[in-house]
Amino acid sequence: MLLLALETSCDETSCALVELKNNTITVLSEETATSLALHASTGGIIPENAARAQIEYILPTITKTILNYKNAVKDNSEESFKKSQEFIKENIDGIAITYGPGLIGSLLIGVETAKTLSYVLDKPLYPVNHLLGHLYANYINRKLTNIIFPFVGLIVSGGHTDILLFNSHTNYTWLGGTRDDAAGEALDKIGRVLELPYPAGPEIERRASLVKKGNVKFHSPLINEDNFDFSFSGLKTEAIRFIQKNEITEELKNEICFATQKAIIDVVIKKTKKAAEQYNAKQILVGGGVSANSTLKNSFESIDLPILFPERKYSTDNGAMIGAYALVNPKEQRWEETVANPQLYFT
Ligand code: KG4
Ligand code: ZN
Repeated sequence: MLLLALETSCDETSCALVELKNNTITVLSEETATSLALHASTGGIIPENAARAQIEYILPTITKTILNYKNAVKDNSEESFKKSQEFIKENIDGIAITYGPGLIGSLLIGVETAKTLSYVLDKPLYPVNHLLGHLYANYINRKLTNIIFPFVGLIVSGGHTDILLFNSHTNYTWLGGTRDDAAGEALDKIGRVLELPYPAGPEIERRASLVKKGNVKFHSPLINEDNFDFSFSGLKTEAIRFIQKNEITEELKNEICFATQKAIIDVVIKKTKKAAEQYNAKQILVGGGVSANSTLKNSFESIDLPILFPERKYSTDNGAMIGAYALVNPKEQRWEETVANPQLYFT
């Protein structure tokens, strides 16, 4: 089965041709455009700017994805666009699309484009929950049989921090999540006060790696509570107060990055491990932008269970993970019934 997959929930416009063959999902071609530079200049995402960038990028990104695969002329000519359309018409078995959660303007561009393609080309449409896509990024380049139920899923992204228990693809339970800010959001907000480039996660990781011991310590919120919940707005307040009270040298900036990263990682690992033990999980799957963090990955190694992380490039938002979810769990929906849902969660 070969799908054209689209992801436009936030500031990335991403498209991929993803195939399930011999029990393995592979990415045949992919292309991602990002409006990150625009948001870096405003210190965070302004939804209208992100939506405008989606409009600009969506068609060239689809075309480039197909041209990359076909090795055809990589230009914007009428002829190459026609070639790409013909390729879709002849070869793909359906279109996968993120329908939520995310920014409404950004989601709409992808959803309406995917619906139009589905209608015009008469191909099935597979709407996918972005958060599940993050977890199913773990299926890319792995044999399907390497992932074993029950598994605990940890989503750590810019907008979400959730722990779920999966007994099968369709039977899953939300165990807990953040009560306020997500892990990535806390990193980005603290990074903003430290005047780090947006998004701050990668820079916080880099600066934290320069610290050997760690003289600054922040609290890991809810770490001793007997639940699977998180709360990172208190951490943000603690860090901001500390920044306001001290003279911030480059070394102290690094220390703050180390303390922030540690406070988040400690609670995330403790609660994920607890969920895995309590529900006798056979594996833990991690996904979302913050899962690109090597310290998080290395700290998980202390757990005596297989822990799966996506390849780094499939940690942050990408079309391939949306295709992977639809390939493993294809739930077709008519284009007339498919609606972007910015508040989509786990039902
Ligand atoms: O999953 P994602 O690309 O977008 C959402 O769905 O939110 O996640 C983006 C988040 C940002 O908050 C960013 O700072 C964080 O992922 N991030 C990282 C790293 N790379 C991206 N956080 C920590 N360490 C990283 N290496
Ligand atoms: Zn995401």
